[in-house]
Amino acid sequence: GIPVIAIDGPSASGKGTVAARVAAALGFHLLDSGALYRLTAVAAIKAGVALDDEAALTQIAAGLDVRFADGATWLAGEEVSDAMRSEAASVGASKVAVFGGVRAALLGRQRAFRQAPGLVGDGRDMGSVVFPDAALKVFLTASVEIRAERRYKQLIEKGVSANLESLSQDLRERDERDRNRAHAPLVQLPDALLLDTSSMSADAAVRFVLDAWRE
Ligand code: CDP
Repeated sequence: GIPVIAIDGPSASGKGTVAARVAAALGFHLLDSGALYRLTAVAAIKAGVALDDEAALTQIAAGLDVRFADGATWLAGEEVSDAMRSEAASVGASKVAVFGGVRAALLGRQRAFRQAPGLVGDGRDMGSVVFPDAALKVFLTASVEIRAERRYKQLIEKGVSANLESLSQDLRERDERDRNRAHAPLVQLPDALLLDTSSMSADAAVRFVLDAWRE
């Protein structure tokens, strides 16, 4: 079948950067699965749907009208590239992601990214649920302090004001929700390679995954 590299791990661990660079190096497609949960949250907020209304959220997830083009993201014809990266969308994504209905509604859309010559998928359940037959599974993590600092720098670089203390608190809460939910909780799979990037550059992390792939 078409090979998949599954990269899972907690928030702001550097998965997005590593997944994008590994995909580029191999000429593989890229699935940023978190984007779909973010878009579900953004669409729900726009529609005035409460983030705990599973039935309504499931409908929104099933009907997402998304277009990814030239590095930008469009939701029902409106550009949401910045909105979907906001802290509100991050928190919203982690809230809608607890629902089995929402997750099931997004499953087919994620699997459709599996196209030749291969796919790199980044998320929480790439190796456990979406692509359990992935050829390579990586659990990418870093300490919560490092992850909060990385997210802080990202936001400051984008010109968004941020507070390290509240970011760190936010990450802990999202990690906890991701790890303790009933559906597709974030777990370190026994067949996943552990990659702790706390004191590792992005370059080194990318090399590690590429080396593991070539072995
Ligand atoms: O960049 P960051 O790691 O903060 O977030 P993300 O990967 O874009 O994911 C946003 C949220 O979506 C996470 O907090 C998870 O709760 C959820 N998510 C998920 O449940 N399953 C996935 N495969 C990807 C994301």
